[in-house]
Amino acid sequence: MAEDFLASALAAEASSRAPQDPDYPLFHVAPPVGRLNDPNGLIEIDGTYHAFFQYTPEHPRRLVYWGHATSRDLTHWEYHAPAILPDTHQDANGAYSGTAIDVGDHVELWYTGNYKDPETGEREATQCVVTTADMVHFDKQVPPIIGRQPEGYTAHFRDPQVWRDADGTYRMLLGVQRENLTGAALLYRSTDLRAWECEGEMTFPDAGGAFDTFGYMWECPNLVRLVDEDSGEAHDVLIFCPQGISPEREGFENVFPCVAIVGELVGTEFRSADGSFEELDRGTEFYAPQIMARSASSDPGAPTVLFGWAGNAGEDDQPSIETGGWVHCFTAPRALTLRGGRVIARPYLPGLPLAPATLEGAPGDEAGARVVELAGSRSWRLAFDASYEGALSVGIGSGSGLAITLEEGRLTVDLSGTRYPHGGRRVVTASPGEASRVEILHDRSITEIYLGDGSRVFTTRSFLNGEGSGVTLVGAASVTLVGAARAD
Ligand code: FRU
Repeated sequence: MAEDFLASALAAEASSRAPQDPDYPLFHVAPPVGRLNDPNGLIEIDGTYHAFFQYTPEHPRRLVYWGHATSRDLTHWEYHAPAILPDTHQDANGAYSGTAIDVGDHVELWYTGNYKDPETGEREATQCVVTTADMVHFDKQVPPIIGRQPEGYTAHFRDPQVWRDADGTYRMLLGVQRENLTGAALLYRSTDLRAWECEGEMTFPDAGGAFDTFGYMWECPNLVRLVDEDSGEAHDVLIFCPQGISPEREGFENVFPCVAIVGELVGTEFRSADGSFEELDRGTEFYAPQIMARSASSDPGAPTVLFGWAGNAGEDDQPSIETGGWVHCFTAPRALTLRGGRVIARPYLPGLPLAPATLEGAPGDEAGARVVELAGSRSWRLAFDASYEGALSVGIGSGSGLAITLEEGRLTVDLSGTRYPHGGRRVVTASPGEASRVEILHDRSITEIYLGDGSRVFTTRSFLNGEGSGVTLVGAASVTLVGAARAD
């Protein structure tokens, strides 16, 4: 008898221990059970934010679904039955990552079907679609819409982003691997979303060859148009995850990086990108981010929202597997803009606004300055301005094993005393003034540090020791609170 994939996912969820785990986040999207990876199909419709995600409910059994959660305020999430099941030949080895597009009378979820021949191990990667008129019932189209990769590429051909271009035609951006084992992005065009023509690779005519041989595979490419706060000009930003690059400079410490480049897409040419690229997040866990698509009902003035996967390939050995049978979560939603040609990412949590807060204690006190409102809280956000005569230590709980140190021009995060096995000690050089505006989000086992009003972000999993509640700021810095809020 054929396996009932929905029933097995729901059975795994019914016996989940995750929500009872003290490390399970409250305002970050996390798996109801098992494993979560990339954000997928992000779209806002009529004020409801839909977040789909790569979901392996029976982890470590590798059956990859699209999980589904919704929120009205990007802070409180409701989980639904999985939307895409690995129940056909095309996705038997995973309904891999993709995006959502509103086409008027329905929404399409575009994803990569992953099939691996059990005998030969050969991979078939296809681009597939699921349609929905109500975001509740999802109809998978069989067979796939794009049945294989074009000549010159391997079956590492995945993660479609589909959008409507200014001229009314549809475009698809995919991450690929060339037959010579280098990574690239491919563009397709369609007038009806069913017949697709390969336009060719995205090229970078002004980059001096910087992206011609740039890793062995590009995963999860995302294109977004952002306005620069300084100039008021809009630019295209390409966000992608090149596997296997090791630039000779600070950063790039995770297994794979995620970078952004800024330019103008004209046809298949990504012009004006000069070869420079920057990591979108400097923390220990950040990958495969996705921009939230808008629908016909979306407010055109609303911020451009991005979620990342707070996780890395191959790092599933985390304490939450033992304590709750789950692993990984999303980052908080971030509102993206540009400033001086660089991507700016600010936390965007309409359901958890910063409120006025006061400091208890003086910087010279032994106990340091304590934020009263956050005492006992294990899920909170806190924003402050600081000016440094020396270093400022940010303590979360006591005896947690986590050491966060801020100085003018530097952030140091030492996770070596926590339960998190992949941390160690990271040093991030900050630009002048960046450390003077700080926002920290802490949600039980994930911590995000935003410097310079979104100019530099550091995401880490923070499986703390002890109670891990409240926050203390100790050291030779003068601190003015901007605001705080607790989620628990
Ligand atoms: C990125 C990724 C994607 C793929 C998905 C599979 O983390 O490898 O390229 O579609 O995860 O789960």
